[in-house]
Amino acid sequence: EKGGFASFMDKEIHDQPQAVADTLLGRFDLEGRLTLDDMRIDESLLKSIDKIVVIACGTAAYAGQVARYAIEHWCRIPTEVELAHEFRYRDPVVNEKTLIVAISQSGETMDTLMAVRHAREQGAKVIAICNTYGSSIPRESDAVLYTHAGPEIAVASTKAFLSQIVACYLLGLYLAQLRGNKYRDEIETVIRELQEIPAKIQRLLDEDKQQVVDLAAKYKDTQSVLFLGRHVGYPVAMEGALKLKELAYIHAEGFAAGELKHGPIALIDEGQMVFIIVPSKNGRDSLHAKVVSNIQEVRARGANTIVIAEEGDEEVRQYASEVIFVPQTATLLAPLLATVPLQVFAMELATDKGLDVDQPRNLAKSVTVE
Ligand code: F6R
Repeated sequence: EKGGFASFMDKEIHDQPQAVADTLLGRFDLEGRLTLDDMRIDESLLKSIDKIVVIACGTAAYAGQVARYAIEHWCRIPTEVELAHEFRYRDPVVNEKTLIVAISQSGETMDTLMAVRHAREQGAKVIAICNTYGSSIPRESDAVLYTHAGPEIAVASTKAFLSQIVACYLLGLYLAQLRGNKYRDEIETVIRELQEIPAKIQRLLDEDKQQVVDLAAKYKDTQSVLFLGRHVGYPVAMEGALKLKELAYIHAEGFAAGELKHGPIALIDEGQMVFIIVPSKNGRDSLHAKVVSNIQEVRARGANTIVIAEEGDEEVRQYASEVIFVPQTATLLAPLLATVPLQVFAMELATDKGLDVDQPRNLAKSVTVE
């Protein structure tokens, strides 16, 4: 059932082109209009919402963070992302004009379920993004957008994460269309680019995997790894760090690259391993330049800089101990590609340490207690 792979995790990382393709399948009608499954919320109501709050835990919450950049940009609806357990117990301001997006692979995470119940009691509508048919969170929501990642067996999330991000994009594009499509051209480009993502993930797995396997072997005994990113690269950095903690039991931290000089740069010492997720240069020159200067800052203090950058971005080479190139795509879609080498790195490093990547210690696949 592992389909010839060494672990479920390995299989699920390689399932990702399919998981993304299946999550995209059948969502557009002939006019290019998006359709969502199980949409039980009146479209007129969706037109009038004035705030979106994404609630989730762990990896699913990082998918939510990616969603925020996309939804705010395309829809101009104020969007917050909050850990479900924090949301639930802080007396949040939500009402009939709030749309809650609850993201959960299992659909059984108790923290997220309790937050959903709380939000609905305040009159908010809830859309669930979920990978498990008929589970509790979709059952208790007003609408559901299923991710079609297939069963995720390994405890740490991989293909569900990418599918959640895709579902969030679909929701954002749907709301943008519904509310008047201000960025029509850009949105059409994004829809086209989305269709190309599965093949790009496949190419990444085919062409880059060995480089990442070698990198993991080289850094097998490292004690601490930092991850830096800006914009949508920030949640990718957080997710890269979480995977490494979970699978390899290594101390790892993700930062917003802009925070570096506000404290974390004190951690940088000779030989410190730092992953930096560099945004596309395409249309976002200033963002790119900022991250390049962050690479220089940590490099100057002795860090080993492992840079994840877009193919063609030769400029970063001179500042990098190593560059992992990922295929080009729209800026907002980059997490679907940049995350993959980080998943592989964590899995390979854990494997090199002789650890069980499918069942890390102390973790459960779904956390059904608060
Ligand atoms: C990390 C991981 C967890 C889950 C979190 C939420 O690899 O798997 O952080 O993402 O427990 O689980 P779901 O999505 O089932 O609500």
